[in-house]
Amino acid sequence: MSIQTDKIKELVERRKASKIGGGQKRIDSQHQKGKLTARERLELLLDEGSFEEYDAFVQHRCTNFGMDASHIDGDGVVTGHGTIAGRSVYVFAQDFTVNGGSLSKTMSEKICKVMDMAVKNGAPFIGLNDSGGARIQEGIDSLAGYGEIFERNILASGVIPQISGIFGPCAGGAVYSPALTDFTLMVENTSYMFLTGPSVVKSVTGEDVDQEQLGGASVHASKSGVAHFAAHDEQEGIDTIKKLLSFIPSNNREDAPFKETEDRTDRTDDLLNEIIPDSPNKAYDMYKVIRSIVDDGDFFEVHAKFAKNIIVGFAHMNGRSVGIVANQPGVLAGVLDINASRKAARFVRFCDAFNIPLVTLVDVPGFLCGTQQEYGAIISNGAKLLYAYGEATVPKVTVTLRKSYGGAHIVMSCKQLRGDVNYAWPTANIAVMGADGAVGVLYGKEIKAEEDPEKKKALIAEKKKEYDDLFCNPYQAAQKGYIEDVIEPRNTRFRICRALEQLSSKSEGLPAKKHDNLPL
Ligand code: HXC
Repeated sequence: MSIQTDKIKELVERRKASKIGGGQKRIDSQHQKGKLTARERLELLLDEGSFEEYDAFVQHRCTNFGMDASHIDGDGVVTGHGTIAGRSVYVFAQDFTVNGGSLSKTMSEKICKVMDMAVKNGAPFIGLNDSGGARIQEGIDSLAGYGEIFERNILASGVIPQISGIFGPCAGGAVYSPALTDFTLMVENTSYMFLTGPSVVKSVTGEDVDQEQLGGASVHASKSGVAHFAAHDEQEGIDTIKKLLSFIPSNNREDAPFKETEDRTDRTDDLLNEIIPDSPNKAYDMYKVIRSIVDDGDFFEVHAKFAKNIIVGFAHMNGRSVGIVANQPGVLAGVLDINASRKAARFVRFCDAFNIPLVTLVDVPGFLCGTQQEYGAIISNGAKLLYAYGEATVPKVTVTLRKSYGGAHIVMSCKQLRGDVNYAWPTANIAVMGADGAVGVLYGKEIKAEEDPEKKKALIAEKKKEYDDLFCNPYQAAQKGYIEDVIEPRNTRFRICRALEQLSSKSEGLPAKKHDNLPL
């Protein structure tokens, strides 16, 4: 055998060794926990044969605690680039079989390398996390590694989409990289995110809590909102990431991919002419409206389990990607509270950063009041949504279906927040507040003074009618040019598609500044 053949053999063997990470026993243990390995995940994520691995032979440089005697090529993370549906992406996948996927300085260098390349090449960055956090043996070097990653997350924010998949533990400061990215996905029962684990919680606060209750997928998808998606298993998680990518561009200079459709833009839907109940206090399902107006009824929801009183997600309209924001009258009457405001604000900002037009469907009775909301800073949180809409320069089309009262009317992409095209259904009520509240404020003393119950009832009814006739319709707003038109509900898809077409060449800027100071 020639020297060259020997060397090639060595390369093949070294590569083979690097591929099995911490060894078969640990791979088996990973499988027994219902988890895939880093490489198996990347295989599912990337187009077949598209993965180009970098730094497979990198080794850590730690000599503490006998670490110099244990080296595994690749050092617990698989990095590189590949394609998803033919589009380039940069990836890392932590390998739990190597020191529990813990982050060494060299691991961070590998991750930072692909982050830098993703930014330079304008491609999305996807991290699949499965790690015990900072590699304890490396001390401050490992912390520095996290710092390097966080800084890159921050600089890449708004430049390329960043997506975090949490496929195992994610503890300590490690959770902050996912938190800095645009979207976080968790897998039920096998992934956890927390600053400190259950044992530390017990010793600090005395609270008894297990991993699932403290930081499982369902907790973060429904209570904290840290996770935008919760998948039943890893396959579903990977599929969700791929689907998400199909709605978003590769960077902030591009448009999202166009999706061919047979769904005609002038398709009407008679259901919408009947969907608003006679009673203003009765709910209807906003999902029906969304599915009716978007291409092929295909709506990809974000934060589906969190703050359900507002719905956000992606769809296509006439083939173009749009971000939908819609109040949900079926949950808490669609009121805006702290979580709904935070959820929608973040989504609006993502869409604006990545050139995705916003379609807003309004049926909102107002902001939720009371001490719980005030103490939790509904004022600053509501202002986040106000800020996000007011700052957004992407095309903004708004349709008011029914209620649009007070501050919530302003917040939900009104004309004065640079809404481009604002429509209302004939059932819209655009006013400072609903008739009940208004009559109470304007005629409270008079009503209280009336002792005869029948006369009192008649007085309230009369005053409510007076108020309803004046304000509870879209025509006051239409007369003053605050909305462009009152439209027949069945034509909503067509009117939005046509508005978006018209706005596709929109160009609008912001005053020069270092950066804004949104109410965080
Ligand atoms: C080094 C680690 C490690 C770590 C796990 N391992 N975490 N090695 N540093 N942080 C090793 C284990 O020693 C073990 O090695 C192997 O990985 C698998 O771990 P197990 O504990 O056997 O697995 P499991 O029972 O599944 O438990 C997983 C775990 C647990 C929940 C993640 O390992 C754990 O609690 N780890 C520590 C989590 C943590 O507190 N990390 C530091 C956070 S502070 P062997 O050889 O025995 O198989 C932090 C600061 C970042 O991250 C700050 C940034 C600003």
